[in-house]
Amino acid sequence: MNNHAPAGGKPALAPSAGVRHRGKNIIAVASGKGGVGKTWFSITLSHALSLRGQKTLLFDGDLGLANVDIQLGLMPRHDLGSVISGKITLNQAFSHYEAGNFDVLAGRSGSGSLANVPLSRLQLLGEDLVIAATGYNKVILDLGAGVEKSVRQLSRVANTILVVTSDEPTSLTDAYAFIKVTALERPGCDIRVVVNAANTTREGERTYNTLRKACEGFLKISPPLAGIVRRDMRVREAIRNQTPILVRSPNSEAAMDVEAIAERLLAD
Ligand SMILES: Nc1ncnc2c1ncn2[C@@H]1O[C@H](COP(=O)(O)OP(=O)(O)OP(=O)(O)O)[C@@H](O)[C@H]1O
Ligand SMILES: [Mg+2]
Repeated sequence: MNNHAPAGGKPALAPSAGVRHRGKNIIAVASGKGGVGKTWFSITLSHALSLRGQKTLLFDGDLGLANVDIQLGLMPRHDLGSVISGKITLNQAFSHYEAGNFDVLAGRSGSGSLANVPLSRLQLLGEDLVIAATGYNKVILDLGAGVEKSVRQLSRVANTILVVTSDEPTSLTDAYAFIKVTALERPGCDIRVVVNAANTTREGERTYNTLRKACEGFLKISPPLAGIVRRDMRVREAIRNQTPILVRSPNSEAAMDVEAIAERLLAD
């Protein structure tokens, strides 16, 4: 856990707003900017945790553009849309993903997005998720990009937030914006940084240090590094083939980097 000092300023959501409970074993994967690899990383992390004996649930919390099921080539019978509309309960909506041996809650795969779901409904969903999480060792929550209220509301159920950034300046500034808003709303929150698609581990470390220094200078917090995942053409290949990278290319750099992150998370 980080021991973050509270940052100044007025939170947009009061610290007590949102969920009353938090899942100790829920890890949210967030980013400011879209397209930095959150979904691929969430899938691979879930798989790596499952390979380490963790009963894992991957929850597609991207309310705008759900795509966990697409990357996995899953045709789920149920999705989050049916849960939110009250047709089924959260527990009825889980599918098992055989190739990775973890459970999945698909986002809305049909038409329409869930982006306009009222915050009060998301709060209830979060509370149900915290209860469902007790049946798992780890829950990975793949969030939508950005800092909108719906993203922040869902992220509140998580004990740990992994903020994914690439080395692009816009991705870094957007990651900083996400960290800033989260630190204001949830002082002391366990926020960690993942640098994805780094050209080299060295470059990834430089990217992390740039972000860390900004956080230290302006927010008086120092989010630790969860890990660096190198840029690897086998990521795209695995996604294109709808096959998990830990099956298709387990010895690739990107796969091994995510496995190392899973190991470190479990060592905490
Ligand atoms: N380590 C990596 N090396 C090479 N390419 C990568 C890596 N990580 C992700 N990518 C590429 O980035 C693309 C976007 O990945 P992904 O869909 O997981 O991002 P996202 O952050 O979930 O996007 P969105 O914000 O739209 O949900 C993928 O198609 C993949 O090819
Ligand atoms: Mg995504």
